[in-house]
Amino acid sequence: MKSPTDKKRWIRPLPERLINKIAAGEVVERPASVVKEMVENSIDAGADRIEIIVEKSGTRLIKIVDNGCGIGEDQIEIAFSRHATSKISEFDDLDRIMSYGFRGEALPSIASVSRLRMVSRPADADTGIEIIFEGGVLQTKNPIAAPVGTSIEVENLFFNTPARRKFLKAETTEARHVTRTSMALAMGRYKIGFSARVNGRKVFSLPSGLGLGERVAGLLAPGKKFVEVSGAMGPIQVEGFISPPDLARSNRNGQFIFINGRYIQSPTLAHAFAAGYGELLPRGNFPVGALLLTVDPTEVDVNVHPAKTEVRLSREREIHDALYRLVKESLRQQGVIPHLQVPSSLPTSTASTTAISQGSHPPGDNQNVIPGITRPMPTSAGQMKEIYERTPPVTVSDTPAIVQVDTSTGEIIDESQPFEPTGAPVSLQFIGSFNNLYLLFQSGSDLLIIDQHTAHERVLFEDILRQMDNEGGLAQHLLLPVQVDLGADQMTLFDEALATLNKSGFEVAPFGGQTVRIEATPAVLSRKSPEKSFLAVLNDIASLKKSGYDLNKAIAQSIACRSAVMAGDKLSDREAIGLVDSLLKCENRYSCPHGRPTFIKMSREDLDKQFGRG
Ligand SMILES: Nc1ncnc2c1ncn2[C@@H]1O[C@H](COP(=O)(O)OP(=O)(O)OP(=O)(O)O)[C@@H](O)[C@H]1O
Ligand SMILES: [Mg+2]
Repeated sequence: MKSPTDKKRWIRPLPERLINKIAAGEVVERPASVVKEMVENSIDAGADRIEIIVEKSGTRLIKIVDNGCGIGEDQIEIAFSRHATSKISEFDDLDRIMSYGFRGEALPSIASVSRLRMVSRPADADTGIEIIFEGGVLQTKNPIAAPVGTSIEVENLFFNTPARRKFLKAETTEARHVTRTSMALAMGRYKIGFSARVNGRKVFSLPSGLGLGERVAGLLAPGKKFVEVSGAMGPIQVEGFISPPDLARSNRNGQFIFINGRYIQSPTLAHAFAAGYGELLPRGNFPVGALLLTVDPTEVDVNVHPAKTEVRLSREREIHDALYRLVKESLRQQGVIPHLQVPSSLPTSTASTTAISQGSHPPGDNQNVIPGITRPMPTSAGQMKEIYERTPPVTVSDTPAIVQVDTSTGEIIDESQPFEPTGAPVSLQFIGSFNNLYLLFQSGSDLLIIDQHTAHERVLFEDILRQMDNEGGLAQHLLLPVQVDLGADQMTLFDEALATLNKSGFEVAPFGGQTVRIEATPAVLSRKSPEKSFLAVLNDIASLKKSGYDLNKAIAQSIACRSAVMAGDKLSDREAIGLVDSLLKCENRYSCPHGRPTFIKMSREDLDKQFGRG
């Protein structure tokens, strides 16, 4: 090996083929990168139908066929030389890139590490042209009969860069990347017809001309209704469809965020997406869906990452906040869970039911078993009826040949899965209670299983917060005030929380030294020992504050948790229905303030599957 002290060291430009191979290391990380680059070229070429075929996870073949503008015979060779592009010509163009391509690097890079065959024909040419490269070296270029558009076949990827080939992951991993990339491309340009076949299996086949909602549902959860996000705020305009909370996943694989049609990876925007759900999602759960942002191109720098999957945004903070608010607002506006219209009268076994709000309880019933559920129950005759109060759902029933893909594995879940048009009005009926914990309701062909404790916690939490914001929490005065001695740390916390505690229904005051006097407790806690409840709430706030809760929420959460019906508390039918009625009126019906679900849904189909009914 020559040392740097050797006399003569020639500095020479690298041969073009070697430069391309080096560039390929950046542009083409894996088979999915080839799919991305080639499909983006097809989109830039104005295609409205694009076909993706991948064999052996891309190591044997990646084929992309489009019906775009094609490349003329005199241009085709130039397209394979480095930095040759038809997309930008001026330096200023870089500041407002609207096309996917702008570097003129993808084709020469890919051609240098594979055997590449391209056949292309512009609309004004009588015949097509075929060009073949091997390891970046031109093999043949001949006229050939071809339809208008471009077809490109990349074979033996990385055959001449063994290190790169060796670093490819297991075939299933590469297939998963290819699938995810294809899905992202199909969502970012939802008007274009797309089909993808990976390792001999049809992953999706999506017609052109349908809306974003159909596409997102079709790719992420066929037959399910997604929530539309649409609007402009601050520096962004957003168009998107996002999942109701019950479709959330434990990873971020179902999230697709785009800026000006470009799929990007941005922890900041992913955060805004999930944060918009707030407590709708338990910790560790992530929403699913696609959000397409339009931003002034002069404020987006796409030229920061070789694969262009990262962008620099000049107003990132504002974009984050606007996206967060748009997501939150859309979820608030569009309820996706059936809204219970309380029964006009209760089904037959009403003997044991009494209007909770009227305070008359059957003998033996714990009168305070369900505090805080005070809405009057209607008394006139009629059947228990209910309606979905919601916008017409997205259905994909008219979208042919779509299969559901597990985005984490790239596997097709069930090709025979039928598309079930959703959205017909469905009734919600109380079936009964299980183990004095779970309340069972029928909603159309779904079974809703409601956890009475978490549901009640949610109802109380929102009630208490509302009361704290308005006139203050309902208080129950004690006949004899109680004095409690606190530890030094508790006293500090007490001083800090005093004003807020007194808005929550407690009436407490310092009583000299480390003693506190309790005059009243929140009405919902009135059956518990005032001293014990107060100390429990104080301890709860200490730990909730540590986990970042603000004081109001911490106090409301603690009181709600301490006063909610417990597992094992028996509810009458009327109480159960009253509870669910109140839950459905909550801003967030899906989870308790700790993030645990308030209910789960099982479809008739799920049950049928369990019982082996075709
Ligand atoms: N499917 C296609 N249909 C029509 N023209 C194409 C197609 N693919 C490539 N081209 C032409 O070949 C040129 C080179 O493509 P290449 O992908 O290498 O560069 P680019 O898209 O301009 O930039 P980038 O490297 O950023 O992708 C393009 O500018 C375009 O004119
Ligand atoms: Mg390109």
